[in-house]
Amino acid sequence: MPPTAQSLTGSQIRQKFLDFFAERGHKVLPSASLVPEDPTVLLTIAGMLPFKPIFLGQRTSEFRRATTSQKCVRTNDIENVGRTARHHTFFEMLGNFSFGDYFKEQAIAWGWELSTQVFGLPPERLVVSVFREDDEAYSIWRDRIGVPETRIKRMGEEDNFWASGPTGPCGPCSEIYYDFHPERGDQNIDLEDGSRFIEFYNLVFMQYNRDATGNLTPLQNKNIDTGMGLERMAQILQRVPNNYETDLIFPIIKTAADIAGTDYAQSGEQTKISLKVIGDHIRAVVHMIADDIRASNIGRGYVLRRLIRRVVRHGRLIGISGLFTAQVAETAIALAESAYPNVRNQEAAIKAELEREETRFLKTLERGEKLLAEILAKKPEQISGVDAFTLYDTYGFPLELTQEIAAEGGLTVDVAGFDAEMKKQVERAKEAHETIDLTVQGSLDKLAEHIHSTEFVGYSELSAGARVEVLLLDGQPAEEAEAGTEIRAVLDRTPFYAESGGQIGDRGYLSGDNLLVRIEDVKKESDFFVHFGRVERGVLRAGDTVTAVTDQSCRRRVQANHTATHLLQAALKKIVSDSISQAGSLVAFDRLRFDFNCPRPLTALELEQVEEQVNSWIAEGASAQIAEMPLAEAKAKGAIAMFGEKYADVVRVVDYPGVSMELCGGTHVGNTAEIGAFKIISETGVASGVRRIEAVAGPSVLDYLNVRDKVVRELSDRFKVKPEEIPDRIAGLQAELKAAQKQLEAVKAELAVAKSDQLLATAEPVGDFKIIVAQLEDVGAEALKTAAERLLQKLGSGAVVLGSVPEPEKVNFIACFSPDVNKKGLQAGKFIGGIAKICGGGGGGRPNMAQAGGRDPSKLKDALESARTQLVEGLG
Ligand code: ALA
Repeated sequence: MPPTAQSLTGSQIRQKFLDFFAERGHKVLPSASLVPEDPTVLLTIAGMLPFKPIFLGQRTSEFRRATTSQKCVRTNDIENVGRTARHHTFFEMLGNFSFGDYFKEQAIAWGWELSTQVFGLPPERLVVSVFREDDEAYSIWRDRIGVPETRIKRMGEEDNFWASGPTGPCGPCSEIYYDFHPERGDQNIDLEDGSRFIEFYNLVFMQYNRDATGNLTPLQNKNIDTGMGLERMAQILQRVPNNYETDLIFPIIKTAADIAGTDYAQSGEQTKISLKVIGDHIRAVVHMIADDIRASNIGRGYVLRRLIRRVVRHGRLIGISGLFTAQVAETAIALAESAYPNVRNQEAAIKAELEREETRFLKTLERGEKLLAEILAKKPEQISGVDAFTLYDTYGFPLELTQEIAAEGGLTVDVAGFDAEMKKQVERAKEAHETIDLTVQGSLDKLAEHIHSTEFVGYSELSAGARVEVLLLDGQPAEEAEAGTEIRAVLDRTPFYAESGGQIGDRGYLSGDNLLVRIEDVKKESDFFVHFGRVERGVLRAGDTVTAVTDQSCRRRVQANHTATHLLQAALKKIVSDSISQAGSLVAFDRLRFDFNCPRPLTALELEQVEEQVNSWIAEGASAQIAEMPLAEAKAKGAIAMFGEKYADVVRVVDYPGVSMELCGGTHVGNTAEIGAFKIISETGVASGVRRIEAVAGPSVLDYLNVRDKVVRELSDRFKVKPEEIPDRIAGLQAELKAAQKQLEAVKAELAVAKSDQLLATAEPVGDFKIIVAQLEDVGAEALKTAAERLLQKLGSGAVVLGSVPEPEKVNFIACFSPDVNKKGLQAGKFIGGIAKICGGGGGGRPNMAQAGGRDPSKLKDALESARTQLVEGLG
């Protein structure tokens, strides 16, 4: 084992990492929730996820460097958990990030320093990989760090080009590996060999954005995203054979083993695997529930349910029969609470959710046992692979359990058949997870096996008969919902548009025999349309046939706004620049918002012309031609696609010939004349290079005008003038106010002068001169000047320095010197500049009269004191 590396606890490793980067100017940020803001990903899968908008330039960051310990969950490798030394669902990723600040060379140098100096890993035990084409990284490792060429491996895109998903920020990466067996020599190094190497630190040079067609465009900034696996570093430093035996996880395994009455060290391979699965999954489950995820049949809730069931199943495999997950969770909570205090705060919720799910699943297992009994009662020769798989997949029966029970009846199980079914399922799962992202799409595979995806009929129909496929109450599948309850319902077909492509979901209702359900929103989860609503009358049951009716007036409004958004984009391209492209949009019932890439604000004239152009297209009455076609064909025709968006092979093209052609799944007017009118409300900047137009179209224009009209009428009543006279009236009031302010200033000046007369008495003789240094409360610069000039006139020969605080955080100074003071080498300009500096400011002017300002009134006394001392020294 490494001669110099020190054994550190998991907490110490975490802290040392964060401290190292904090000392190097990184802002330490807390872990983000496992529920990401990014809607394309189901769970937080990497430390960089919370920063994705910053990398993409959609959001600016207050800091240019950050470091985090981010809790992550990935389930794409769930079958490997417990079977290999290092696969997990839950893990902590330590990361340092640069947002357009330092890049490759610095990231590599710090990565190496941290690994070798802080964690004390001997350099001869480290091997690094670089992206095949990244000569720059190669030479940094070789020439700057001094890694021998035999220990720098060039790797392909698969291994050394990192992306958080099929589209989005990405870049080449460089990984640092630890070598458990350096004695095997540098010849034929194979980094895939898990028995020898473990990758513990990945440095990603995040510099591209990948769009749906796979094109890479450079990001505005070159960024750094890194990830160090905390559990892996703990394995290396704690000198244990796998991540599970580190102090981050092993206490959980110990608790589970105690409950089962076994000893990990003495256990066979299968028991060890089960204990490791429990150790891993319980951590995931604890953090997921703490982050407000609850078990259900869709989305993240399904991931949680699956993890809990696996824990229970593995518990049974090692001989645990009663409820036990909450007890194991207690150990996981105790381990995590110092770094993630929310797990202790959520302790009650975590334990309650576990017990509920566990009890429920045990019931399912009982049903499975009944099913198995029925199968056995038919006296088959063997239990078929399909039956064994159903028991495994639907009822949570491990194959071993089925085999055991079958054996009691003298039967065997068709294991080959079972394996074949399992393989089919793995294939299905693989298709859904093309990348390490566990997308919303992927997680719904399971549900898809049981129900049909929703057929959308809303392009042509506003009302349709439909069946309630799934009914959810509080996120849990339910049989029925009574009046007064909030529900979510998945229908087999629906006229309701589900929120997507910026267009919000339709409103409306579901009706049936004495049934009324108000639908307030519709969202898509994979291919399922989830209707959010409230039962107003009667009882809604899963399986019911209902009539789904969308609210026509809402639909008309949203359509007008959506088509107007297309016309707006076309007009911007035509009038401002052809290079304008969409960066985001929102199409609601009452307004539309269109974000686009443009390096400068639009001029008032451009906005006027854009608005006019859209309105003239509306007046021309172009009819929509909407068709589906292959993506390539649509692009060839010149249809506008949104940059960075993932499109299917067959796309929907919304074409208003000669005006606008876009790929779009939204609902639109049949003819542009239906929009009626379009009005731009504002144009603002939302991020560097991204502008936003807010506008209204269709019936919303009238609403907008009515609101404006009300304001105008109120003003006109208040000022008692006609609406068109309001601007003149306000200009008049502003002029009056200005004159009054001027008068006030003059009065204040007179007052200051009057006060200054009293100051004459305080004049101090210094040599042949007389000086006055004083503070005049709150007078402005002009009044201060008048007072100082007047005082000097009265002194004849000498110096006057005055200070005042006209506003809370402002200081004014003036110095007036007579010509013979100048002869003594004192210049008012230079003098007062030095004095103002004491109050955090500056200024200057002529030798005989100069003014200056400062920001810190608390230092005014000191400043005046210093002025006096200098005058006494200079003139005495
Ligand atoms: N984002 C990089 C990873 O997850 C660091 O490996």
